[in-house]
Amino acid sequence: TTNRTFTMLKPDSIEKGNIGAILEKINAAGFRIVAMKLTQMTENDAKAFYAVHNERPFFGELVEYMTRGPIVAAILEKSNAVDDFRALIGATNPEDAAEGTIRKLFAASISENAVHGSDSDENAAIEGAFHFSGREMF
Ligand code: CMP
Repeated sequence: TTNRTFTMLKPDSIEKGNIGAILEKINAAGFRIVAMKLTQMTENDAKAFYAVHNERPFFGELVEYMTRGPIVAAILEKSNAVDDFRALIGATNPEDAAEGTIRKLFAASISENAVHGSDSDENAAIEGAFHFSGREMF
């Protein structure tokens, strides 16, 4: 799993019609799509996926945001995938994100920040397996 990461285009990206533009940036940066689908997380899904944040003051808002509409979930492959993808998406807060990054271009705020990117190889594998079965990975 070392060369893979997991991403979600979050509900705000789908609402704004930004799926194509974001996938274009991902493609241009050299990532191969291993798995991809449009799906919607249930409340239980979001609480489980973000369990690490369950003590945070923004947890309720995060669950509401991530369940309010469909997301695009995807597994991406590239050398150094986790770190390179985090560089491509930019800082959590779009105000801090570098020029040209996906969050700088497409995110509205720290809470509605357009995209997810795994923070480690271990979490990339866990998060990919949360959304995809083996026969959905290519
Ligand atoms: P991400 O880093 O992908 O995963 C945790 C998410 O929680 C983060 O994206 C934001 O969507 C959200 N988040 C992080 N920090 C805050 C915050 N201070 N206020 C509201 N939401 C936040």
